[in-house]
Amino acid sequence: MSARKPFVAGNWKMNLERKTALGLALSVRDSVGRRDDIDVAVFPPYVYLDEISRALAGSLVKSGGQNCCDETSGAFTGEISPAMLVDVGATYVLIGHSERRHVYGEGDELVGRKVKLALEHGLSPILCVGETLEQRQAKRTEQVVGEQIARGLAGVDGRALQARVTVAYEPVWAIGTGLNATPAQAGEVHAYLRGVLAGLYNEAAAERARILYGGSVKPDNVRALMAVPGVDGVLVGGASLKPESFLPLLDYR
Ligand code: 13P
Repeated sequence: MSARKPFVAGNWKMNLERKTALGLALSVRDSVGRRDDIDVAVFPPYVYLDEISRALAGSLVKSGGQNCCDETSGAFTGEISPAMLVDVGATYVLIGHSERRHVYGEGDELVGRKVKLALEHGLSPILCVGETLEQRQAKRTEQVVGEQIARGLAGVDGRALQARVTVAYEPVWAIGTGLNATPAQAGEVHAYLRGVLAGLYNEAAAERARILYGGSVKPDNVRALMAVPGVDGVLVGGASLKPESFLPLLDYR
């Protein structure tokens, strides 16, 4: 059995209102209770993070930011620093999410700086990688995710990788489309990514790093995806927005 603890994360993106967000966080908290066989985290919009982190304090459910700035402070209108996320109770931060890369044009160099700064401030980054449909059809998946992970982790040492970094494989074509990667497709890319980690660091570090799958994860496909040996958890968008579709994901076995 893998020593990697399963991790189920809900990325709420730019959804929910204050009240529904808080209600959802509370039902996740109550459902997880004292269960410690799984890690669970929610990623609310920034403006709700403070209130939700307070509501989750003392529970086993953690919170995180959906993004952060690559600068510490200063004249960066509209940005949020890693220290601010820590200040309002965040444990994690998503970095290089597909929508940041493809809608807002974030590149690997910026992503790498964010990962480094997040670690320096004590956050646990979740580095997201994934290929577009075009790239997959051109058989460039491995090249694309390999570069994303190597550049995203530039300057991160093996100890930080093992202790605090999570990788999320989210094929762009599977996000919000209802078309998830098959367990075989996910398994191939996860195995490839773990091999890249072994090359960048070493086998032991690669074996300990968690790699999540994201892209149209739902209660009816979570079991098959989680059964893939290299899939250590799921990063969930749409299905994380309601207790009835998120809570069943915690019982994927
Ligand atoms: P969906 O689960 O809605 O496809 O979104 C996946 C995602 O982008 C999670 O970060």
